[in-house]
Amino acid sequence: MSSTLRRKLVPVALSIIALLVAAGAWLIGCRSTGGNATATIVSGDADSVIAARGLTPADVYAAVKTYQPSGKKDEYVLFASGGHSGQVLAVGVPSMRLLKLIGVFTPEPWQGWGFSRDTRRVLDEGDVDGKSIHWGDTHHPALSETAGDYDGQFLFINDKAQARVAVIDLRDFETKQLVKNPIAMSDHGGSVATPNTDYVIEGGQYAGPLGWRYASLEQYQQQYRGMVTFWKFDRKAGRIVPAESFSIEVPPYWQDICDAGKKVSDGWAFCNSINTEMATGGIEQGKPPFEAGVSKRDMDYLHVIDWRKAAQLVAAGRARTVNGFRVLPLDVAAKEGVLWFVPEPKSPHGVDVTPGGDFIVVSGKLDPHVTVYSFAKLQQAIAAHRYSGKDVFGVPVVDFDAAMEKQVELGLGPLHTQFGPDGYAYTSLFLDSAVARWTLGGPYASLHPEAPWTLVQKVPVQYNIGHLSVAEGDTVSPDGGYLVAMNKWSVDRFLTVGPLHPQNFQLVDISGKGPSMQVLYDMPIGIGEPHYAQMIKADKLKAWEIYPQIGWDARTMTADATAPQAGKERFVRNGNQVEIWMTATRSHFTPEHIQIKKGDHVVWHVTNVETAKDATHGFTLPGFDVNLSLEPGETETFEFLAEKGGTYTYYCTEFCSALHLEMVGYMTVQG
Ligand code: CUA
Repeated sequence: MSSTLRRKLVPVALSIIALLVAAGAWLIGCRSTGGNATATIVSGDADSVIAARGLTPADVYAAVKTYQPSGKKDEYVLFASGGHSGQVLAVGVPSMRLLKLIGVFTPEPWQGWGFSRDTRRVLDEGDVDGKSIHWGDTHHPALSETAGDYDGQFLFINDKAQARVAVIDLRDFETKQLVKNPIAMSDHGGSVATPNTDYVIEGGQYAGPLGWRYASLEQYQQQYRGMVTFWKFDRKAGRIVPAESFSIEVPPYWQDICDAGKKVSDGWAFCNSINTEMATGGIEQGKPPFEAGVSKRDMDYLHVIDWRKAAQLVAAGRARTVNGFRVLPLDVAAKEGVLWFVPEPKSPHGVDVTPGGDFIVVSGKLDPHVTVYSFAKLQQAIAAHRYSGKDVFGVPVVDFDAAMEKQVELGLGPLHTQFGPDGYAYTSLFLDSAVARWTLGGPYASLHPEAPWTLVQKVPVQYNIGHLSVAEGDTVSPDGGYLVAMNKWSVDRFLTVGPLHPQNFQLVDISGKGPSMQVLYDMPIGIGEPHYAQMIKADKLKAWEIYPQIGWDARTMTADATAPQAGKERFVRNGNQVEIWMTATRSHFTPEHIQIKKGDHVVWHVTNVETAKDATHGFTLPGFDVNLSLEPGETETFEFLAEKGGTYTYYCTEFCSALHLEMVGYMTVQG
């Protein structure tokens, strides 16, 4: 948030609070008669409404901090995982208004996502062994970065369930590519962009035989493996290049969250793991269940990866291939200075690199502390071979005390950490249902008046927070100001909508110093279960208002010379092959009659020839699972086989003009 705006808002809030205090006696009287918003429709001036609704000064402050007058735009955009919806949410901050739900892994009819030939083709890139997958378990969105700062060009997001990564182009907020990880069936430690988006990191989750071929669980240690994949990103093409990508084979521990090093630690990646016990479950056979077996040890291993070295070794031919994908073998990674472990307590989950890249903050779900590792100490320990041994796969284990900088006690169930511009760190506490603000030490100690490495405040959130997102809070230059808590349970916070309760983002004010954090706003999001989000300054986004040329192909992001153009609409028959070039404009399609025959194979192109902002036309052909969203300039194609005779009305599905209902045509199928 700009400091100018903050300066403007705070006095407004204070003056309203002053008025509120002056009206105190009347307010108390009103409360005692039970006046509240649920029972009464209130009118009158602002003070009367405040009083009648029983709003506290903190409530009024929250309202004026978040309210956007009609037509005013937000300062930040939060890109949030849509959880099992397989989609991405774009939310304005601080208003918490939902701007868009971007279709990614799941068909999304409004955007025509998955209901045209070419959008279907992108979804099909995510097929697994030839099977169409119609959903995703989206976890961690990652904005593209330049020199460690969000650049607003691309967004990546992973599907944990199928180990897939999607590329979204932020010029039009549309998904351009899905890649299926060729060696693993599940992921978790992604998506993470390296500081210049050379690579998008995708760490694994549940170990399996590479390529998910068959191997008995009896052979777990011999046959099962974890992975960390580095997807090469071609920024100019806007695509991941699988042929230039690679994985590092790692032990069959369950790799968890990853983060990329930055600044002093650029070129490195850090991934947590659980299940260094290599538990294989089997509760039904009287064996310890996974939950017990996986959390038996006090320490698991932080994976420390020199990915530049790994890329050099892969380029030098040291990789083998699995399912056609380059994999750097575990023994090479262990011997050649690519992979080290550092012990980390206890049931580790989040790993987050500080803005300067100098510290790595690890949270153990069953440890009330966060453990802070120093990258410099880690480097010294590696150089001096300060190892406490090797794991069973021969990976050197760096001595815990040699790499650890500090442990800071925060509370129960620490999960994830983000950073402010002022030396504060923010950690989600799942079991406490709280956000902890604490101070960093080292080079950050001079930024704040409190003691370094100290808990400053815990603010309760409702409830069971997972990830949190601070404005640009995982970049080299965090903005701070706002924090969004992403809560797993809402329990009693909203009107009951059945046993599946809304899931809840809460906006937290972190603009002040010291113990000043306050929850500002609750946002039930309507879908679930969301994981991570990143918050970017809105003015970094340079999204298009219309497509640049008539006949635009949003998959290739180029003008399609063969797309339908006004005045050149046509119907071409070649045997039973039919091709149609159609245009859409307010308020008609050209042509309005399509006459085909049973047995025809039809390829049908439609271009929206509008150049006015927001003049989107829809196109549906009922009965054929076709629904296009044609933004101004855009062209789309669909194909079908006319299997039986009939009469069908195609029409525009967007209320585009007063004569929208008349934007229609008939397709007759003779036979
Ligand atoms: Cu075009 Cu309605």
